[in-house]
Amino acid sequence: MELCPQHSWHPMVIHFPLVALLLAVSLDVVEVWFSTARWRGTAALLWWVGLLGAGAAVTTGLIAYNRVEHSELAHVQMTLHRNLALVVVGVLVVTALWRWRHPSSRLVAGVGVVGAIGLLGVGYLGGNLVFRHAIGVPTEVIERVMMERGGHSHQGGAHGDAAAGGDSTNSPMERGHRP
Ligand code: HEM
Repeated sequence: MELCPQHSWHPMVIHFPLVALLLAVSLDVVEVWFSTARWRGTAALLWWVGLLGAGAAVTTGLIAYNRVEHSELAHVQMTLHRNLALVVVGVLVVTALWRWRHPSSRLVAGVGVVGAIGLLGVGYLGGNLVFRHAIGVPTEVIERVMMERGGHSHQGGAHGDAAAGGDSTNSPMERGHRP
């Protein structure tokens, strides 16, 4: 079995930063809103889990970036996902250090919310890579699935001809290359 297959590590670790950092920022907002330190310990633990998870997500993402088969259009989307992820993780690291020095700061909680929204954007773009550009799916698997679908697409419950525009994104034909 391949130790680091091209499709598995990144999707396995991304849930840690997504869940932990969104919860950590939410608890910080609750704390400054209600002027309480009740959730401070829980929030600190979530920040640790989230930032360690973000480190793992960036590392595995960069590995996948250099390994997965993808089209030229998908390459642009993948680079956008990477760049936004690096900026957002940077913002969240600064927020974590800042909140450590200035607990209960409204400004810090606000910057955390901006980072959390950015993180949602990173997740959205990551999902697009997989579900709109089939990144991580080997070309032979795409071809096999096309065969299984018999060249038909199902849109809104109706059968349509894939050649007549089966992709709901209406994206142009993607030319692919292997890494
Ligand atoms: C905190 C940082 C990151 C988060 C939260 C994140 C999130 C995601 C999500 C949600 C997906 C879709 C996975 C799925 O639906 O199965 C994805 C896919 C992907 N991401 Fe990220 N990502 C992060 C950082 C990065 C970085 C820095 C890169 C480097 C280019 C990267 C490259 C990829 C690639 C290539 C895919 C396609 C699936 C794969 O090959 O694993 N990601 N990401």
